[in-house]
Amino acid sequence: EEMSKEQVIEYLNETVKPEEGVIPAYLLGDQTVYDLEHEKVFLKTWIFVGHESEVPHKGDFMTRELSGYSIIITRDNNDEIHAFYNMCTHRGMKLCRADKGNKSLFTCPYHGFSFKNTGDLVGVPLQKDTYGGKIDRSKMGLHQVRLESYKGLLFGTWNDHAEPLEDFLGDFRWYLDILVGRAEMEVVGAPQRFVVHSNWKVGSDNFVGDSYHTMVTHGSIAKLGMVPNATYSKRGFQIHTENGHGLNLGTPNPDFAFPEELKDEYKRNLSPDQYEVLSNLKNMIGNVFPNLSFLISHTKIKDHLISNTSIRMWRPIGLNKMEVIAWMFVEKNAPKEWKERSRDSFILTFSPSGIFEQDDTEVFTDITEAAQGAMPFQKKLTYNYTMGLHREPAEFVGPGVAYDDKFTEANQRNFYKYWMELMTK
Ligand code: FES
Ligand code: FE
Repeated sequence: EEMSKEQVIEYLNETVKPEEGVIPAYLLGDQTVYDLEHEKVFLKTWIFVGHESEVPHKGDFMTRELSGYSIIITRDNNDEIHAFYNMCTHRGMKLCRADKGNKSLFTCPYHGFSFKNTGDLVGVPLQKDTYGGKIDRSKMGLHQVRLESYKGLLFGTWNDHAEPLEDFLGDFRWYLDILVGRAEMEVVGAPQRFVVHSNWKVGSDNFVGDSYHTMVTHGSIAKLGMVPNATYSKRGFQIHTENGHGLNLGTPNPDFAFPEELKDEYKRNLSPDQYEVLSNLKNMIGNVFPNLSFLISHTKIKDHLISNTSIRMWRPIGLNKMEVIAWMFVEKNAPKEWKERSRDSFILTFSPSGIFEQDDTEVFTDITEAAQGAMPFQKKLTYNYTMGLHREPAEFVGPGVAYDDKFTEANQRNFYKYWMELMTK
């Protein structure tokens, strides 16, 4: 029987105990939870929509989905970036139906109203005849969507009362600096998009804290000798901060996997501690709450260790379906040849056909399928998230709560703790 919203919240409070490592399977298999999640999580927090380098020139625009609803992101003639609800203010037609392009004027396909890329309504066909020249264009600009940037990462929110993006990211910015603030970064090509039959939380959970799976799920890659040291050691740190964010740092790594030419640029953009982390990095995998995961991984190609940097979004399009959108980044000032090799290493590992990606999505799909079976529906099954519950945090140079190896589920507990906070508000 259908539960009311209040009953669901009450039931969540009774059954979900992140601090004790108890997460029921129905969270991945129940439509009521999914619907409530849309309202309480996706319409309330900051959601990633793209990177500034995807609209590099004046007049560039792209359309993106912000929690399921289309928005237009533009760069105007003063180099300012805007976001608008993709709806004509006359009769509600979807104003722009292209993925991306360059133009400063958007003309509605229905009656031909035209809007500048600043949102202003500038043209109404035959307005003297039809409105007697009396239409107030100043009140009919496109609806602005709240958009903020951190180091080029653009986030939008439907929540007028959401805290500023920088506060929402909080201490986690220290790690995002290493990811995308270490140098001038640019997105390579258009993002790759593919559909996986998985609940979105499986992806976030995997990237936020599941280093434990790598030695089994990806065991074959180690055997091929394609990752540094040919092992999936647990060595490194697992770290989380407020608001559900978390990451795993693989370290140490004796070989510098980034372009040598850029060492000065890195040092200019990072603190000495951050630079130290970067130079010893073996890999870095994490998640910005709720569904923006990221990854720096190194691959050996022709005896050279090459890093690749990417972010991916697990965009929910149903209870058991998500669109994965993956953006690959390179240092803008890296040598051309290095950029190409970094791209090869990305395609080999974490693109839709990549060897890691294939391993992971198999697992994501099967977990989601099982979560929708009869047992989870009867709400009897719980997952076990108790790994590392007995451990004390360790010292680390960066902010947040750190553990001195990666095999713990502290980050998943932190993820679900914040998820619960939002869901039961
Ligand atoms: Fe756009 Fe009428 S709906 S001009
Ligand atoms: Fe994996």
